[in-house]
Amino acid sequence: MNLIEQIKENARNNRQRIVLPESYEERTLQAADAILNEGLADIILIGRPEDIHKQAAGLGLKNIAKATLVDPATYEKSGAYADMMVELRKSKGLTKDDAIKLLANPLYFATVMIKFGDADGEVAGADNATGDVLRPAFQYVKTLPGISVVSGAFLMFLKDKEYGDNGLMVFADCAVHPNPTDRELAEIAVATARTTRDIAKIEPRIAMLSFSTKGSASHEMVDKVVSATKIAREMAPDIKIDGELQADAAIVASIGLKKAPGSEIAGKANVLIFPTLECGNISYKLVQRLAHAEAIGPVLQGMAAPINDLSRGCSVGDIVDLVAITANQAIGSKKK
Ligand code: ACO
Repeated sequence: MNLIEQIKENARNNRQRIVLPESYEERTLQAADAILNEGLADIILIGRPEDIHKQAAGLGLKNIAKATLVDPATYEKSGAYADMMVELRKSKGLTKDDAIKLLANPLYFATVMIKFGDADGEVAGADNATGDVLRPAFQYVKTLPGISVVSGAFLMFLKDKEYGDNGLMVFADCAVHPNPTDRELAEIAVATARTTRDIAKIEPRIAMLSFSTKGSASHEMVDKVVSATKIAREMAPDIKIDGELQADAAIVASIGLKKAPGSEIAGKANVLIFPTLECGNISYKLVQRLAHAEAIGPVLQGMAAPINDLSRGCSVGDIVDLVAITANQAIGSKKK
């Protein structure tokens, strides 16, 4: 069974409630139908039931009848949701009128639904930009205890099985937080360890990357990575992590042995943590294109409940896979 099949099997055996706010979007509706057909999750669609049923009928989708349809305009809990929003954002001066207006936006409604405990996770972004999907999540679902930043990891399936765990590596942050501090970089490493266990289903060996290996260069950018490694060790003593390491020292055994003798990570890393978003985003795209690796993600991590953002160019299959991944994150959180 390949990894995506394992993820789907786990989702099927532990059904989670996943909310899809973009119910008007054709690929999302087709994915919802496939998910319900395969029993991968209980699906909540936000929108007017008559519109959803009409579009589903037009597309010949029979399984949408099994979804829970929630119309923000008539939902009995909308008032309670607005009260909770006012309470959570009172320091920002949010009024009940503001909250009611925000709830008319399905992206806000979905995240508040999760915060209220009425859904376990969300997938959106087939029709909305990353910032629009993430902002409501940042404001209402917020981050896990001990974590202040959300970041995005990619599962990289390499053709060359010599690297990582039989060709599987995890890269982060490649999607969200442009310029992390040392503390934030440590949090990204700890959150990525969790994604590696819950989603990649391998035990993380984390390399904190830099342009220096063990003091070969001195610069404040190197100092940040050294400090982040120390903080990550204090935050999660159970994870295997080392830095600062250059990329070759992290993944090539002979170079790791030469540049960082005695390191339990050098030459054996299966998780790469990049010092900035620029490095992470550029690296995953280059590996994807030049090495023909399959890149699955971004899997958003560090959030108090799983919310994942699709690319607007996504396929129906991408949405189905991301819902299964989101369900696995929710299952992982509940176990903890
Ligand atoms: N984690 C947690 N909370 C955050 C984060 C974060 N990484 N970033 C911002 N926030 C919070 C803020 O603290 C703030 O909370 P508050 O309202 O309670 O005070 C709220 O979110 C809004 O903060 P802003 O700074 O106004 O955030 P903004 O909405 O401008 O930007 C965004 C957030 C959109 C994620 C921004 O950081 C961004 O654009 N990142 C890059 C995304 C990107 O383009 N990625 C590359 C493409 S993806 C790909 O290639 C796979």
